[in-house]
Amino acid sequence: MIILKSQQEIEKMRISNRIVAEVLNRIKEEIDVGITTAELDRIAENIIIKNGAEPAFKGYRGYPNALCASVNEEVVHSIPTERSLMEGDIISLDLGVFYEGYYGDAAITLGVGKIDEKTQRLLDTTREALFIGIEKIKEGNYLYNISGAIQTYVESLGFSVVRAFVGHGIGTSLHEEPQIPNFVPPNKGTGPELKKGMVLAIEPMVNMGSSEVNVLDDNWTVVTADRTLSSHFEHTVAITENGVEILSQI
Ligand code: MF3
Ligand code: CO
Repeated sequence: MIILKSQQEIEKMRISNRIVAEVLNRIKEEIDVGITTAELDRIAENIIIKNGAEPAFKGYRGYPNALCASVNEEVVHSIPTERSLMEGDIISLDLGVFYEGYYGDAAITLGVGKIDEKTQRLLDTTREALFIGIEKIKEGNYLYNISGAIQTYVESLGFSVVRAFVGHGIGTSLHEEPQIPNFVPPNKGTGPELKKGMVLAIEPMVNMGSSEVNVLDDNWTVVTADRTLSSHFEHTVAITENGVEILSQI
């Protein structure tokens, strides 16, 4: 069942998502050669707590940290470590916040120092795919139109969309229905109709090579099967009385 949110609930989700955006903005500034992902995680957790909120991922199914920090061939869900970032790396920063009963969730991918042209294209394509997907969010449209728009755009540029992980509804739980694939699922029709009160976390994960992924032995880190680079962007988006609103706008 897709849980529709009232205007008051969306107001609360504005706050949790504003905190997400603020933290991502802040740790974005720290991205540089030499910083460790564990340091980024500590900064993120401190800001969340200072805001009177909780890190949503910490403790979620046993996940140990506030931040998912996925570097290079890591797709999503990488646990922060003492490994230092190097020139030319790319890093996905994925963050969830819980505030007064409601969740916020967003992600960005950034280059460390100078990155090569094709890598920059991978990042630009993923960010653009997210916004192309968001443009399809309208009352009366259907869920898999979002999926199809993302898939078509990404594949037209020669990259691939991850199939094993998807976006999701969000509210009083981090993950609610519906699942939001970044590809059109075969033989499933249009998907549900989009309605006022839906809050959706759209999160394309885009690979330079094949769409296949593996989970490492830590049971969290998702990597590309061919170990080519992967990029990830996410926003939490609400369909409100006044139209579509990106709650986690950075
Ligand atoms: N943004 C991701 C998601 O929606 C991260 C959550 S995984 C967690 O799936 F375990 F770290 F919480
Ligand atoms: Co998410």
